Amino acid sequence: MRAAFFDTHKYEMPFYKSLQDKHSLNFEYFEFRLNETTCKMASEFEVISCFVNDKINREVLAVLAKGKTKLITLRSAGFNHVDVNAAKEFGITVVRVPEYSPHAIAEHALAMILCLNRKLHRAYQRVREGNFSLDGLMGFDLFGKTIGVIGTGRIGYIFSKIMFGIGCKILAYDQTHSDQDTSHLSYVSLEELLKQSDVISLHVPLNKGTFHLIDKEALSLTKKGVFVVNTGRGALIDSKALINSLKSGHIGAAALDVYEEEEGVFFEDLSEKILQDDQLARLLSFHNVLLTSHQAFFTKEALENIAATTVENILNYTQKREFIASSLVI
Ligand code: NAI
Repeated sequence: MRAAFFDTHKYEMPFYKSLQDKHSLNFEYFEFRLNETTCKMASEFEVISCFVNDKINREVLAVLAKGKTKLITLRSAGFNHVDVNAAKEFGITVVRVPEYSPHAIAEHALAMILCLNRKLHRAYQRVREGNFSLDGLMGFDLFGKTIGVIGTGRIGYIFSKIMFGIGCKILAYDQTHSDQDTSHLSYVSLEELLKQSDVISLHVPLNKGTFHLIDKEALSLTKKGVFVVNTGRGALIDSKALINSLKSGHIGAAALDVYEEEEGVFFEDLSEKILQDDQLARLLSFHNVLLTSHQAFFTKEALENIAATTVENILNYTQKREFIASSLVI
């Protein structure tokens, strides 16, 4: 069995190389992505491993199915980039890493909120230039504020506990209620959450029901000065509506670890190039927007767990064992 890893980065190599040696597996690593151009060579491999911006659409899957590919192992929890119906039709099994460190993402959301609220991103630059003035750096106490958590699954639930620990009031919205202890939060309608929250944090997957969940209409319901935090998926927010709301001064701050057009930009060093995405350039121009390049997952523990589950998924396939149910996308 040969496995091809696409969109690989040097930071993840050590985690895979040690497991590969341990289990005598034949892995080949490619820095380029799986897409319509690379799928032909990819179809030579029985197992393919992908990351969040690889293209796993019908066209790509059709080519893979005509070749040798039988299994796609996603090195991510989200699988919105996979055409699951096409994969099913072509008989390609898709597995993922359902949970690797929900703490990593929840803690990154907190880091972004604290940074933006207390203007650390500005203070860092300012003092290095010898400017020790406090003008423009005033934040607010998070204690006592209302946090709206959209999605109380693995990540959202942990995030809600963290914010409760700070002394916030937690409102939550989810299509299903968590089966864990929810005594620290109150489930409300999406409309109530939007109207009452000082900070709104998104932790739902991207699907038909959540695409542009935060659009012009949703933003119009929010409090003036609201903080919007997105560590979920970019297209949960309509970027155009967000920009208009930032321009009008309605939104207090936006913390974005994901962006709807992030493919081809995030994870890349484009510092020598001219940024072509005007919407992204506009977002970067706001001093009250903190943008990170899909790095919420990026902790040592998370990378260890992603590698361990990915290799376990591959071993389950090669040794004809059942996949862990929550790993199976289709
Ligand atoms: P999860 O599956 O444990 O929780 C998702 C929750 O969203 C569930 O409680 C579900 O009922 C709810 N939900 C789904 N569709 C909904 C809808 N239409 N309306 C209302 N609620 C809905 O997922 P988990 O592990 O908490 O991850 C959430 C998302 O975070 C992932 O899907 C992924 O997109 C994103 N993520 C981002 C990372 C990053 O580095 N920025 C890393 C890992 C995940």
